Amino acid sequence: MENNKRPDSMARIETKEAALAFIDEQVAIIRRTVGDKKVLLALSGGVDSSVVAALLIKAIGKQLVSVHVNHGLLRKGEPEQVVEVFRNQLNANLVYVDATDRFLDKLAGVADPEKKRKIIGAEFIRVFEEEARKLEGIDFLAQGTIYPDILESIKQAEGKKAVKSHHNVGGLPDDMKMEMVEQIKLLYKDEVRVLGEALVLPHAMVYRQPFPGPGLGVRCLGAITRDRLAALREADAILREEFDIAGLAERVWQYFVAIPDIKSVGVRNESRYEGWPAIIRAVNTKDAMSATVEEIPYAVLHKITARITSEVEGINRVLYDLTPKPSGTIEWE
Ligand code: XMP
Repeated sequence: MENNKRPDSMARIETKEAALAFIDEQVAIIRRTVGDKKVLLALSGGVDSSVVAALLIKAIGKQLVSVHVNHGLLRKGEPEQVVEVFRNQLNANLVYVDATDRFLDKLAGVADPEKKRKIIGAEFIRVFEEEARKLEGIDFLAQGTIYPDILESIKQAEGKKAVKSHHNVGGLPDDMKMEMVEQIKLLYKDEVRVLGEALVLPHAMVYRQPFPGPGLGVRCLGAITRDRLAALREADAILREEFDIAGLAERVWQYFVAIPDIKSVGVRNESRYEGWPAIIRAVNTKDAMSATVEEIPYAVLHKITARITSEVEGINRVLYDLTPKPSGTIEWE
């Protein structure tokens, strides 16, 4: 536990020079610790695991085996970006697993949000474990744990109650004992981003908005169906594109679409068109414990509405959620 405490004397990583010094130091430590052994990493494509991957690739190249599990609940273009950046640009040893059918089959008919989270979390560990067992001679497990994660687990150990169970990769079973490599566990998110830029990861990856482990699974409300999930993915991609164009992507902490399992009557091509509503959520927060709703210019909302209702199959209305946290939570589930 001792080395899970950030020393008061530790300087913040705010500049490229500080990041490069940290990288040099960590590369030396990783090489010394790992030697010629192999390291396994669950690479989600989020900032933290991507930075850990880039750091390890710099230190030990193909001795790092990164496993990217696509649970079918990622945003449009995400799995492709992971493959492009890590396999094609960084020449990484990447195992890409498309487990979409497994996850969606397990989730079929399940409407309860906590049950959905548990299924996704458990299945994720199962798929990752299966991949790990196929690989031979792996002695280390790397994780993108950062300092707020450690502070959060201390809080939970002290018995503070959480509103939702957050599921991330929980590690591997005991018979697969591996030593942990957690090179960024004493860093805050902004420091991890400075590190990511210094490691020349794409800007969009380094400044990606937070995305929950269960992904679109908690935004396709109630029991997930493939058609509603596909509509959600397209609508969310349009929202992100328009936020980028309007310069809102840098200003808004988290913005996304959620689609409830209800239909309303609408009109398309002069005919009755029953469809789902797309709900836009755009919030700002410091610590995700409370959040305020961002004021989005009407012109942007109108453009998004026009595009989503004309381009996305199955959607006939767009709603804008004005609820702060509390009383809402950021996600709808
Ligand atoms: P809520 O909805 O609780 O969300 O206000 C606060 C922040 O946590 C994210 N979130 C999750 N992250 N697994 C995660 O890794 C989860 O199950 C989960 N649920 C919510 C949410 O996106 C927001 O940033």
